Amino acid sequence: MAVPGNNNRMVTITINKNQYLAEEGEIFLLTAIRHNIDIPHLCYEKALEPYGACRLCMVDVVTCGKTEMTPACTIRVHNGLEILTDTPQIIKHRNLLFELYLAEAPKSEVIKEMAAKYGVTKTRFLKKIVHDDPLQGKCILCGLCVRVCEEIMGNSAISFINRGPYTVINTPFYEHNPDCAGCAACARVCPTRAIVCEDIGESRVMHSWSETTVALVTCPECGKSFAPQRLMEKVLTKLEPGLIEKIKNLCPECRRKYFTRKEIHKIPLTDREP
Ligand code: SF4
Ligand code: FES
Repeated sequence: MAVPGNNNRMVTITINKNQYLAEEGEIFLLTAIRHNIDIPHLCYEKALEPYGACRLCMVDVVTCGKTEMTPACTIRVHNGLEILTDTPQIIKHRNLLFELYLAEAPKSEVIKEMAAKYGVTKTRFLKKIVHDDPLQGKCILCGLCVRVCEEIMGNSAISFINRGPYTVINTPFYEHNPDCAGCAACARVCPTRAIVCEDIGESRVMHSWSETTVALVTCPECGKSFAPQRLMEKVLTKLEPGLIEKIKNLCPECRRKYFTRKEIHKIPLTDREP
C-alpha cells in the first residue's frame, strides 16, 4: 500500500489561483510551507496523526465553485486540489482565533509574536487570570503534550482536567505522578513552550507536572547525568544483550566515542594511510 506523502507521484494543485506540483498524499500544510505559502499553525507535529486542534491553519478548499473551511494539516494532496489561503472569511477566522489565544495564553510570547505578525495585538476577550499556573499562562490546550505522552511514549501521565473555562492540563489531582518517565517529550512538542522542567544534579524535575521528579542515569565515563532511568531501561531492552552490557549508562557523547573507537579498531593496520 502506498504511504501517503511518500509515494513520489507528483500531481498538480492550485493554491491562491497559482498552479504547483505537489506530492500526492502529502499533508497540504507541508506542501504550502515548502512553497513558502504562509499558513499560521500551532498544533501540527509530524510524529502524531494531525487532528486539527488549534484551527489556526484553516484554508478554503474549493470544490465545484464552493468553498469549505478545513484545517490545512488535515488535507491530503490529490490531483486537482484547489485551495485559497487568504480569503476574507479565513482572515476573519484567523484574527478571531488569535484574539482567543491571546486571552487563553496571555503570557505566551510565541502567541503574541505570531498574532502580531498577522496584525492582531489586542484581544476583546477576557484574559485568563494567571496565579501560580504551572503552565505559566502559556497553554492553549492544544493537547499535543497529552497525545505524545500517551501515543508515543506510552505513559499517559498527564491529561485534560476540569471542563469548559476551567480546563487545564496536568497530572491527576495535581499530584506527583509515578507514570511520568521524565522523558520531557511533552516539553519538546509544546508549541508555546509552556512546560517547565529542569535537570538538577542527578534528577529531572517536571515543574509543570506537579514537581514530578525522576532519577537520571549518570554516565560512568564522564560523570554527566543525562537521561531518565526508566526511559533508558526501555531503550536498552531493544538492544542485543551483549551490547547492552558494554554501553549501558553511557551518555550519548561517550556512546558515540565507544562506537567510533570500535570502528577504528576494526581497520587493519596494513590498510591505514602511512
Ligand atoms: S502544555 Fe503545550 S502542548 Fe500541552 S496543551 Fe498546553 S500548549 Fe499544548
Ligand atoms: S496546525 Fe492545523 S489545526 Fe493546528
